[in-house]
Amino acid sequence: MTVPLTDLIGLCYVYAHASIPTADFDTWLSSSPRHFFVKYGFPSLHVRRWDERRKLATKDLLICKECVTKNTREVELTKAFLRDVRLLRAFDPFGGVGAFGLALEQSGCVKVTHTVEICLDAAKTLKNNASRSTKVYNECANVMLRHAVETHAGHDVEDLRSIDGERLPAPPKPEDIDYILAGQSHSMLNMYRKANDLKRNLILNVLSWVDYADPKICIFENVRGFLSFRLKARQATEHRIEGGIELGGLKFVLRAMIDMNYQIRFALHQAAHYGTPQTRVRFFVIAAKPGTPLPEFPQPSHSFPEADSLRISSTRGKYIRTTPGTAPHQFVSIDDAISDLLRFDWLICDAAGPFCGFHGPELEYEHPPRNSFQRQCRRKESPDLQHYADVPFEKGRANKHSEADESAGISAF
Ligand SMILES: C[S@@+](CC[C@H](N)C(=O)[O-])C[C@H]1O[C@@H](n2cnc3c(N)ncnc32)[C@H](O)[C@@H]1O
Repeated sequence: MTVPLTDLIGLCYVYAHASIPTADFDTWLSSSPRHFFVKYGFPSLHVRRWDERRKLATKDLLICKECVTKNTREVELTKAFLRDVRLLRAFDPFGGVGAFGLALEQSGCVKVTHTVEICLDAAKTLKNNASRSTKVYNECANVMLRHAVETHAGHDVEDLRSIDGERLPAPPKPEDIDYILAGQSHSMLNMYRKANDLKRNLILNVLSWVDYADPKICIFENVRGFLSFRLKARQATEHRIEGGIELGGLKFVLRAMIDMNYQIRFALHQAAHYGTPQTRVRFFVIAAKPGTPLPEFPQPSHSFPEADSLRISSTRGKYIRTTPGTAPHQFVSIDDAISDLLRFDWLICDAAGPFCGFHGPELEYEHPPRNSFQRQCRRKESPDLQHYADVPFEKGRANKHSEADESAGISAF
């Protein structure tokens, strides 16, 4: 087969399965979205029967020796780096359930050591998700900040207690923090737009933590609506604000970070471009002190066709290529993610019960894992495959939903 050079859009490494040492297989596969393997070969490209396959040996694949040597060296260097690296100690003032922190920890370079969360249920989940040594403060991030600043300044301050009365550990000192991560609530969903919305001002809390701790590196995540936030806007009506500085929130954050001597990069990203089975656009700012390399945003690993104007792309970084068909993988669908969970139809479930579907420790999967996503989800055993959120519904409203879904031919699973 001949491929015109102009059709090539990137490099992939394709090895015979037999040539990858079993012990290193998962590490090798997950170390780059451009790593692929082939297990079987067929006599021709027009495959007629599965039993015509034969296992490929290392010598069956033509490979570029120079590229393979370079790639193997890179993988070895990454392994050595992760073995010897001193983990960056991270602080998250808006911990939620700890998902952002967990994701960063998966890089192998970060350990979330301190995190704050105001909501008791979220803080309990966070404790459950985080490692034992992570200090979780069930408190308001503003109260924690004041407590940390006053304690650090040597003032005589009373110990803090969490919302359910538990004594909280001492706040983090600046020298305890290398990294600040923060994903904040800045929702535009509320129809009552407020010019002076406290939730929007939480960014001031994050910037104050940066001022206090002077970390080497920061990453902030926010909803796309953050970009529509206009500084100095006026409350025109109950539902509407007007005037103010366009992109005011963004300009303010960049100005504050530059004043605190950070290099900065920012971008809008689509979660589906990175192998998440959902479509979710988020705005990210990364910042690093001079002397600390400012990370590039990663290129999409998954192709996802949603047309989305990512007009603000990373500043002075590499262009983030989102054209469908240019990433090495197809997007992960909901079916890819959960087709192995037992299916049920919520229209025929017991309406008096607290939830639909099955639950209990005896539950089994519908079928063996069909892809690496499903395999990965099973790495940590779960005592119950069916997790549910207890959302109180008005009965009439639930019926309306079910009628609408039925007429649309939708059955939930
Ligand atoms: C967008 S969520 C963060 C999600 C988090 N990054 C994660 O991965 O789970 C924002 C969180 O900030 C919490 N929050 C809001 N105001 C707060 C405050 N004043 N102090 C501490 N936490 C607060 C909310 O309860 C919510 O869980």
